[in-house]
Amino acid sequence: MCGIVGYIGDEQAAPILLEGLKRLEYRGYDSAGVVVARGGKLTLTKTRGYVENLVAATDGGLRLPGTVGLGHTRWATHGQPTDENAHPHVSDGGKIAVVHNGIIENYAKLREFLRSKGYHFQSETDTEVAVNLIAFFYAESGDLKLAVAQAARRMEGSYALGILCEDCPDTLIATKKEAPLVVAVAEGANFLASDVAAILEYTREVYRLQDDEIAVLTRDKIEFFTGELDPITKSLEHIDWDISAAEKGGYEHFMLKEIAEQPESVRKTVFPRIRYGRVVLDELDISDEYIKSLTHIYLVGCGTAFYVGAAAKYNLEKLARIPTEAIMASEFRYSAPILGATTLVICISQSGTTADTIAAMREAKARGARVLSIVNVVGSVIAEESDWTLYTWAGPEICVASTKAYSTQLALTYLVALRFAEARGALDAAEYDAIVALLQVLPDRMETVLQNREQIQYVSSLFFNREDIFFIGRNIDYAVSLEGSLKLKEISYIHSEAYAAGELKHGPIALIEDGTLVITVAAYNKLIDKTISNAVEVKSRGAIILALTTDNGKAALSGVADEIITIPDTHDVLLPSLAVLPLQLFAYYVALARGREIDKPRNLAKSVTVE
Ligand code: G6P
Repeated sequence: MCGIVGYIGDEQAAPILLEGLKRLEYRGYDSAGVVVARGGKLTLTKTRGYVENLVAATDGGLRLPGTVGLGHTRWATHGQPTDENAHPHVSDGGKIAVVHNGIIENYAKLREFLRSKGYHFQSETDTEVAVNLIAFFYAESGDLKLAVAQAARRMEGSYALGILCEDCPDTLIATKKEAPLVVAVAEGANFLASDVAAILEYTREVYRLQDDEIAVLTRDKIEFFTGELDPITKSLEHIDWDISAAEKGGYEHFMLKEIAEQPESVRKTVFPRIRYGRVVLDELDISDEYIKSLTHIYLVGCGTAFYVGAAAKYNLEKLARIPTEAIMASEFRYSAPILGATTLVICISQSGTTADTIAAMREAKARGARVLSIVNVVGSVIAEESDWTLYTWAGPEICVASTKAYSTQLALTYLVALRFAEARGALDAAEYDAIVALLQVLPDRMETVLQNREQIQYVSSLFFNREDIFFIGRNIDYAVSLEGSLKLKEISYIHSEAYAAGELKHGPIALIEDGTLVITVAAYNKLIDKTISNAVEVKSRGAIILALTTDNGKAALSGVADEIITIPDTHDVLLPSLAVLPLQLFAYYVALARGREIDKPRNLAKSVTVE
């Protein structure tokens, strides 16, 4: 979603800000802008559409002189994605400029208040309310830091703010609440950013701002204050991931690169947590007694992370024998879930900043449950606030459509299921050992599946022009179907739905006509025959069957399917890790054939920080 970058140093700011904005593009946005200060004057440029438009409008930033500035990519919430609604926003009179991520929930009330004080508004945004509120307090005291603190106290909702004022053009101010913001130290310059990716080219030394804290940046100094303006000292954090991880490295799209990285990401996530044939989760200071006491587990997440939960539900129930439910975070938070000391809520999130998942986590804690999170971004809100956190070591995921986060999250759910099964004595030793052994060769088997890219590209070329594509599967295959269908619609814009195969005849079968493509996921050994029966039902009504099965299942499907893609055999529990790969590649190649913006699909955002 929205992205912020700020620079104060000796170089011309605008080209640096534009570079930073490009690195934030992956988050999804629909307009962009920059503001720079020079000689007591603010200069602003903002455009609808991609950062490229801004680059063109400013000659790569060269037309904007000044060595201090702020940049922003906006994903529209309040008001259309227009030039006017793009950030930065300036106060009435143009003295103060602000970039903002998040939503100010009481903006309507604040706008009325400010109107009553004579302030005028140009846009429909909540951000213009924030900047005018700061301007209102600044007019009273002439102290920008104080004005920011006073305004922050009156704003409800979430915000990360970068602030620049023409009266103090050698200072940037930043504050935040429930939206990420880092402040970073570089050689001869200081930065602020909503995401470290924006500034990694210049520095790896960052301070993470906590809620209500205020940072005051000058060229050679950064000072931190509490919301009450008491000075505080913060510690620097060194970011050690490689910038090349955030670059395409020869691949046409980040998505293809990230698909290819999955075996290695799963290795990094799983191998250090298996020792001498046992799952060891050092990070979880969790007792066997607590695990034994559990009566219910909720798996909570959004989008792809929710579909990891959908798969993990089957495995947790199968292996650990604990009643488990996967539920979308947006539903969970308002459903009055029955929670208590014997309920565990597992929050799954790549970014760790998804608004609904954060709210679900807080709801769970407030109702007395413990929260275990599976998160990719270190130090993110969900990681910090959970009782326990397991990090996926996927590295930065840039493509909006999630692939390597899915695979690593899934891999961690296997480890949790095994750990819980062991603590509860729910799984016999031979099966435990078999699963662990197969987990250790899982990345190799994933590589084998990915080597089959050409066949999947060929199959995609047969079907890329369909308007409706259905996915069916049972049990764990159904969970994978949900993710396959989501991938396809996200990046190809083809209408697609996934159904539990047994449910098909209770309604959706009415949609099957001559030539409808039904992707049949039939990898789960125990239910292959049942799924084949459902495939036959749709085939006899004219459907074309593209089957995804294991080497073992191929013979059974060959009489039914028009095309078959196979994956290697493995333990049933681990099948989703292999089955999802051809579906990701299918979505990718279909989208490629349709000429879609694969890494930045329309209307979608990488990190959804609003409800
Ligand atoms: C957005 C993204 C999805 C992602 C979901 C959850 O909708 O477009 O790709 O799965 O958010 O994100 P999270 O960061 O919580 O995993």
